[in-house]
Amino acid sequence: MSNNLLAGKRGIIFGALDEQSIAWKVAEKCVEQGAKITLTNAPVALRFGTINELGKKLNAEIIPADATSEEDLENLITKSMEILGGKLDFVLHSIGMSVNVRKKRAYTNIKYDWMQKTFDISAISFHKVMQKCMELDAVNDWGSIMALTYIAAQRTFPDYNEMAESKALLESFARSFGYHYGAAKKVRVNTISQSPTWTTAGSGVKGFKEFFDYADKMSPLGNAPAEACADYCVTMFSDLTKYVTMQNLYHDGGFSNMGMSPALLPDPE
Ligand SMILES: NC(=O)c1ccc[n+]([C@@H]2O[C@H](COP(=O)([O-])OP(=O)(O)OC[C@H]3O[C@@H](n4cnc5c(N)ncnc54)[C@H](O)[C@@H]3O)[C@@H](O)[C@H]2O)c1
Repeated sequence: MSNNLLAGKRGIIFGALDEQSIAWKVAEKCVEQGAKITLTNAPVALRFGTINELGKKLNAEIIPADATSEEDLENLITKSMEILGGKLDFVLHSIGMSVNVRKKRAYTNIKYDWMQKTFDISAISFHKVMQKCMELDAVNDWGSIMALTYIAAQRTFPDYNEMAESKALLESFARSFGYHYGAAKKVRVNTISQSPTWTTAGSGVKGFKEFFDYADKMSPLGNAPAEACADYCVTMFSDLTKYVTMQNLYHDGGFSNMGMSPALLPDPE
């Protein structure tokens, strides 16, 4: 159902790889709510994923960009403004990749050049996107910039590996850049901390199925699905949340405030 919450707004959605991607659902909901968008992903993801189908379905142009490349980001942002017919109102950063996780390196046996690549792709790219947007004066006043994160930034989840530090860095960029962008242009910057979700990035984490089930039981509302995360993103892009900035917002069915859940204890004799 559409309430036209994003009517007249323009945005860029990073990170739709396939139908499972959280960004895929966000793109669908933004268009349903009246927004005009461009889609982007790394050139390699355009070849292996199915983003072209999404582009056709939503009548949205796809502009390849490696989010670690300032040159690619400049091209993406400039072209998006041309195609969409003006400055942007929202941006979704939905990007995560850990080289050490992918290569199955233990946290205590990390390769540091891979770790730096992980930080560059998963966190520093967020700073790069915002810095480039600011430099090009690409975002309207009261615009909204969001990134997706995970609670491993605050608590220890051993199999999340170096992504934990990536997310801590990402959330810190949201606060620090959120100050500067807010003071200069009234642009708000937030992160949404999402439940475990069945996607390519999510299911790459060791023991994901067991962990998904654990989090589902621990959360009084159950794990938040990707569609609900997309709804939350829409509200954060809308004018109904204009004074929310520099926040890490939990979207996790209550998981983050739980200590113990009877659902995980064995039945008493
Ligand atoms: N799935 C989960 O359990 C979960 C939970 C909390 C937060 N998140 C976060 O949500 C975001 C989206 O992940 P997802 O779960 O939808 O998985 P996904 O695999 O569908 O999305 C990750 C995206 O990052 C893109 N990407 C990787 N390297 C890139 C680069 N150099 N330049 C541009 N794009 C690049 C990939 O192509 C892919 O589209 C990530 O930040 C992830 O950490 C996921």
